[in-house]
Amino acid sequence: MAMMIDTLHRVFTLQTKHSTYQMKADELGVLLHTYYGEKTDHSDKGLLCYRSDRGFSGNPFELGTSDRTYSLDSLPQEYSGFGTGDYRITALRVRNQDGSQAVDLRYTGHRVEKGKYGIPGLPAVYAEETEAETLVLCLRDACSGLEVELYYGILEELDTITRAVKITNRGNKAVFLEKAASMNLDWEYGDFQWISFYGRHSMEMHVQKTDVHHGIQSVGSVRGISSHQYNPLLLLCERGANETMGSCYGFSFVYSGEFLMELEKDQLDRTRLLCGIHPDNFSWTLEEGETLWLPEVIMTYSDRGLGKLSGNFHRVIREHICRGKWRDKRRPILINNWEATYFDFTGERLITIAREAKKLGIELFVMDDGWFGKRQDDNSGLGDWVPNEQKLDCTLQELAGRIVAEGMEFGIWLEPESISVDSDLYRSHPEWAVEIPGRRPCLSRNQLVLDFSRRDVQAYIIETITELLQGIPVTYVKWDFNRAICDKFSGLLDSGRQGEFSHRYVLGLYSVLETLIENFPEILFEGCCGGGGRFDAGILYYMPQIWCSDTTDAIERLGIQYGASFGYPVSAMGSHVSTVPNHQTGRITPLSTRGCVAMAGTFGYELDIEQMTPEEKEEVRKQIAIFQTYAPLIQKGVYYRLSSPLEGTCTVWEIADPDGREALVSAVYHHAEANPVPVRARVQGLRDELYYRLRLHEDFAEKYPERTLPYGFGPDETISGAALRQYGFVVPDAADGFQAWQISVEVCGEG
Ligand code: DGJ
Repeated sequence: MAMMIDTLHRVFTLQTKHSTYQMKADELGVLLHTYYGEKTDHSDKGLLCYRSDRGFSGNPFELGTSDRTYSLDSLPQEYSGFGTGDYRITALRVRNQDGSQAVDLRYTGHRVEKGKYGIPGLPAVYAEETEAETLVLCLRDACSGLEVELYYGILEELDTITRAVKITNRGNKAVFLEKAASMNLDWEYGDFQWISFYGRHSMEMHVQKTDVHHGIQSVGSVRGISSHQYNPLLLLCERGANETMGSCYGFSFVYSGEFLMELEKDQLDRTRLLCGIHPDNFSWTLEEGETLWLPEVIMTYSDRGLGKLSGNFHRVIREHICRGKWRDKRRPILINNWEATYFDFTGERLITIAREAKKLGIELFVMDDGWFGKRQDDNSGLGDWVPNEQKLDCTLQELAGRIVAEGMEFGIWLEPESISVDSDLYRSHPEWAVEIPGRRPCLSRNQLVLDFSRRDVQAYIIETITELLQGIPVTYVKWDFNRAICDKFSGLLDSGRQGEFSHRYVLGLYSVLETLIENFPEILFEGCCGGGGRFDAGILYYMPQIWCSDTTDAIERLGIQYGASFGYPVSAMGSHVSTVPNHQTGRITPLSTRGCVAMAGTFGYELDIEQMTPEEKEEVRKQIAIFQTYAPLIQKGVYYRLSSPLEGTCTVWEIADPDGREALVSAVYHHAEANPVPVRARVQGLRDELYYRLRLHEDFAEKYPERTLPYGFGPDETISGAALRQYGFVVPDAADGFQAWQISVEVCGEG
């Protein structure tokens, strides 16, 4: 049973396979958060909440003089309100008609719903009725009539609880929301560290682990996108937790716009976490009877370290966020012409790339930026989704047809949310660009943003893109967006509602994407925002993979993909083999290393095949064969981080099949050392009682015959899963700089 409700004492206990979550509506109707962590029983943990008289932490009026120990400022709360006695960071702040900012939420009731709730217009975890249950707790502010419904979706098997909030104005005067977080979580005790993911364009998802200290710590975005700078993913773990041990909590915001994830360690050493839309660019008017849904947060808990925590996220995102035909299907091995040609190509050139790629076993050709309007560089043309037939030497239909005739699938790049000042679209509809009247807008990559909060713009984009895609044999679309949003203003919003722009933009984007994926269920959509500027669970609801970063350097990618792996599955990470010296870093890495790293993603190529030597082409053929062999394992297997690119010499990861009968261990030396310390891979996810054979991938074995594996026993010997887990094996040393090894672990008996 995933839920236990003690109606007499108003205690709500949610159970997943390995975790328990509990709340209690107390004698004043305040909804207390009483427990989240390792699985336990249903007993009322509210009884263990400690109260004492704290100076300057006031007491609710209704207690009169009887009790000074009860304070909203010190009790753990489920959804805190601003201005009525809780002085910590709070989840909900409103402005009432009289200008006051107070809100005081009290429990009014609850209901249980079958299956997992959905959210109109917003991405959310979905599940079969048998896989999930929903609890709704209703709170109300008596003065304003504001109703807050807290939604909980319980996915028992996946140790996951989702949260969302629905706010309705049941009063008779407008209420203005000024901050409305999607969740509040209070820990009564605990010594925590938190892990966040920071970066910049071309260097996303770098891992930062910090102590939770007194005061407020946060990550967020006011950039209109979830951003390269901070990812909407936060992990909290007990001090000392590592990949395999310790209590950890994970929070993934299912939203692609501005967000704020805040932590406060308070005067009593208690920790509060909030996650929601960033309040700096947010306000929302709720007229009488109006409702606003807030985006969802996926919460998961692991009592066995970060590896298990990530595994939970991987499954939830892969199986309960990603949708459509491509969710489970092997993604095509693609070649993208961006780093091969940038804007400088002709139709013939593209066909040659596609033809050469086909010979190597590549399956899909993607035509990137530069095929439309007046777009010879990145200064013009966005918005004019009309093929440049002069440049392509033919119509788009003909080009796509010729590529398909070569035996390749055809894919196309689009950037529908952007508009160049130098474009016919801007000349005819300047009011569609996001600008503040009377101010000069900030340009970025010399472009502006289309106002996706407007229905007319949404309709125009849907129509234009539908018409374009209908006419060509296209099976893949790369949906790019190459700037952050500022100068926020929409010509169609009243001045009092301009604070709604950022959220309305995201809702508009989701609405356009929903229609397009409905119109084109066969097409594989890949998200992109100058790489990983919008790498979030929200986008993955519409497109099952996202281009991780504009950096294709294999060694840089180790860090980016390592960071992303904490919250996102390999099947979501767009990753390509590119040329050397790498265009972003100038670094030279072996082709095998680039292949190995790209295989920890959706796998593809982005280079000029015509420039490759016959030997390199042969190596690509072999890489593709390796990938084909392991593709199902890579896409659906259980991913483990065995060592980090931030330490030591070698990054090692592993993907094991859920039955524990097979695994692929990949190792890349990111740092060279003389007389190196051996790198030990302790293989996880195998079955202790089964016996396995280790095999250096043929290609590597051929290339480096002197580097044998395993050390200590011959190629026909086997070893138990238990030994591989406890003792591990030593990865062969690096023979070249930035050497990679792929080692397969295959079951061969019961011993
Ligand atoms: C940014 C993307 O991340 C690149 O891969 C490429 O598509 C360019 N945009 C094209 O402008």
